[in-house]
Amino acid sequence: MSKTIVLTGITTTGTPHLGNYVGAIRPAIESSQDHNVLPFYFLADYHALIKCLEPERVAQSTLEIAATWLALGLDTENAVFYRQSDVPEIAELSWMLSCVTAKGLMNRAHAYKAAVQANDETGESDPDRGVNMGLFNYPILMAADILLFNAHKVPVGKDQIQHIEMARDIGGRFNHIYGAHFNIPEAVISEDSAILCGLDGRKMSKSYDNTIPLFLPEKQFRKLIMKIKTNSLEPGVPKDADSCTLFGIYKAFATKDEVAAVRQRYEEGIGWGEMKQFLFNYLNDHLKTARERYDALMESPEKIELVLCEGAEKARAYSVPFMKNIRNSVGIRGLARK
Ligand code: TRP
Repeated sequence: MSKTIVLTGITTTGTPHLGNYVGAIRPAIESSQDHNVLPFYFLADYHALIKCLEPERVAQSTLEIAATWLALGLDTENAVFYRQSDVPEIAELSWMLSCVTAKGLMNRAHAYKAAVQANDETGESDPDRGVNMGLFNYPILMAADILLFNAHKVPVGKDQIQHIEMARDIGGRFNHIYGAHFNIPEAVISEDSAILCGLDGRKMSKSYDNTIPLFLPEKQFRKLIMKIKTNSLEPGVPKDADSCTLFGIYKAFATKDEVAAVRQRYEEGIGWGEMKQFLFNYLNDHLKTARERYDALMESPEKIELVLCEGAEKARAYSVPFMKNIRNSVGIRGLARK
């Protein structure tokens, strides 16, 4: 049976946090252990350049994200784990796709439209102010990431659904003109994967600056858990578990029985200080061994580099011959008569 190709990218602009872990990393690593799946997971460093002009941050984030995925047990025997920029065929395909993509399609992309709208709201006369071509072309680069490996399934957050639809449109258009080269991919939105709240109670996200990094040193980790916003109910007063950030985080890690027991404690009026300490202990136990592996990897970046280079080699075993065929199909060929 041929394997299902599951492909996803992680933009290298931040430090992995608890929300990334439960929403994206954990499910991806689980599917890397399923041998009916051929996963392609990559560090989207070209995508990072669209919104991050700080070279050190892009480099550091690449290191941290790679170390995180490896520390958490990504099976790199099965999964192809690589850096986007190590596969030059992606950029090449991106250009070819851009030549069959209507500009009007890109005008409708959410990220671009949001930038235009923000300009409009601030009374800016140039609607495209602050918009670079990277942002405008972003969905085409993403389509190239996906189509190059003929991915079947693309696990993404809800905000990315439109990009997958665009990849389908672009792939379909290319196929129509040049022949059936690309599989038309499907988005996979995991409805049940938890969305965690952050320090301030809003969705945990680096754009709100309210995240709890996954592998902080123990002391700092504890400090952040203690900072999570709660209400002012005193110990002994019954509390609502479902609207509580602490409970939401606990639930994403604990078993059903454990969750039921803690729900009971909320009804009995557990104090916030006690709950925070409990949550810290629980998460700390859960993450301890992975954190040790992470720290060791961060000390040996050359080991990570090696894994990524091997991943790129595996990826290019697909992309080089594939691109050769694509080049030929669009009429970019050697001129010698055969
Ligand atoms: N744009 C995605 C995000 O911000 C990351 C990404 C880049 C991606 N290329 C991809 C995801 C290809 C899935 C497939 O989350």
